[in-house]
Amino acid sequence: MELQEQVQKRKTFAIISHPDAGKTTMTEKLLLFGNLIRSAGTVKGKKTGKYATSDWMEIEKQRGISVTSSVMNFDYKGHKVNILDTPGHEDFSEDTYRTLTAVDSVVMIIDATKGIEAQTIKLFKVCKMRGIPIFTFINKLDREGREPLDLLDQIEEVLNIETYPMNWPVGMGKRFLGILDRYHDRFVQFNGNEEESYIPMDEVSSLAVSEDPTYQETVEELALLDEAGDQFSLERVLAGDQTPVFFGSALAPFGVQTFFDTFIQMAPSPGPRRTVEAVVSPDNPDFSGFIFKIQANMNPQHRDRIAFLRVCSGRFERGMNVTLARTGKSIRLGQTQQFVASSRDTVEEAYAGDIIGVYDPGSYRIGDTLLEGKLKESYDELPQFPPEMFQRVTAKNVMKAKQFRKGIEQLVQEGAIQLFRGYPMDSMIIGAVGQLQYDVFQHRMRNEYNVEVLLESIGDRIPRWLRSEQVDPSLFDERNMLVKDREGDFLVLFKNDFALRWFTDKHPDIELIDLYEVNQYDQTTHS
Ligand code: G4P
Repeated sequence: MELQEQVQKRKTFAIISHPDAGKTTMTEKLLLFGNLIRSAGTVKGKKTGKYATSDWMEIEKQRGISVTSSVMNFDYKGHKVNILDTPGHEDFSEDTYRTLTAVDSVVMIIDATKGIEAQTIKLFKVCKMRGIPIFTFINKLDREGREPLDLLDQIEEVLNIETYPMNWPVGMGKRFLGILDRYHDRFVQFNGNEEESYIPMDEVSSLAVSEDPTYQETVEELALLDEAGDQFSLERVLAGDQTPVFFGSALAPFGVQTFFDTFIQMAPSPGPRRTVEAVVSPDNPDFSGFIFKIQANMNPQHRDRIAFLRVCSGRFERGMNVTLARTGKSIRLGQTQQFVASSRDTVEEAYAGDIIGVYDPGSYRIGDTLLEGKLKESYDELPQFPPEMFQRVTAKNVMKAKQFRKGIEQLVQEGAIQLFRGYPMDSMIIGAVGQLQYDVFQHRMRNEYNVEVLLESIGDRIPRWLRSEQVDPSLFDERNMLVKDREGDFLVLFKNDFALRWFTDKHPDIELIDLYEVNQYDQTTHS
């Protein structure tokens, strides 16, 4: 019984957005709610160059960015909140995507002045593919932005998801008066106070604001929306087919409390997860979890690593013995950490939905399952994410060929980079989703394997997988390169959009697959 209660209390989510949409500002406000920090500006002081997450890696120090996606947890109104950071900007990497395999829902922040931007689309696609529920917060209403209806249209069109506005802004920019909280049938007046004051709709008529033309227009607009718009459906939200949309300003802050209070009620608690042949319930008494990220080189002297584990069932207790499903080996989980904003505390116990850091002497791989008791099977493999940038790689010194291969092999296995082989001319091409992965790759090859690598960019490319029976090497060249992935499946690295379209027109019969096929299934089950 206690187990079930613990699971129900947990809300594990990530915030996704394009850089500068307001993710940090929003995170900060949420941490204030959780009393984790006392004043804003502590999460990431851009101007002072102070960052909340670790300075574990040398490379982080050099670049002044945080490579690690940190995890923040706090209590809020009877819930245990776990927020997973999804690194953006320069530090966008496959880890950013993988973080999404460890959450139960996602908050998408959109800048009202800009609408949907590139990075949001990429992250959204991964959420949609995995059926993760998505809650939308449209930010910066204190500035003149795009019309709310335009923004909803754009979300529906570009992202192909149904929207349901939970509230509706009354004006914006200098004329921003507040929001009509449609879901709770109340008006939230913008008065510059951090504390949001709620006025039931039938009491608004006694306020001066009800005479304001902007207010009156908004009420009419909302009435139209009630008639013509989609119906709210929690079931559709939880299936990832409808996104509840909230408006506000993370900076003011305004609408953040309204958003978060509703979100925390609706967002799903940890659900069952699929293993190779079965489904494990989060309140199964046996402990299980999977590793979605490995942070290497926390301490260059010791070469130790930390594996990030998402608990999926049972109760984690420090010092417990678990089995590594891949090898059947027993491991004692002695050194474990929880990540709270900028500090790392020892974690004594954890439940489904929690993220813990386990000391890794080099035994783990990304996607590994740790379990105990009657549980025996691994969780479904983590998907690979299609890279966008590609570089040819060779060792500077040919005498180092052996270390070079070993290093690449291990870094590929760890999921730091993806390796492709040219075809029919064999060459090594590494793919990544962000520049940081190359920097980390070069740095680690030098420091851990003592090999200087030469990277030669072949530019941003559009990868498309081919059906094996449709592979015809004569159709490809340097422009549209034919390569093999780790599994031996063929794909084409198209030079650009134009080249891809040209090819599609010319060879309509050849099927081009956008993502790894392994991505087509959904690891979580929504029942
Ligand atoms: P990010 O983590 O998504 O990259 O965005 P971040 O929160 O750092 O916000 C980017 C910029 O947008 C910051 O301004 C921030 O103050 C501003 N911002 C965030 N939310 C709002 C909002 O609701 N309204 C308005 N008007 N601005 C908002 P900056 O000048 O780039 O940085 P800073 O010096 O203020 O930290």
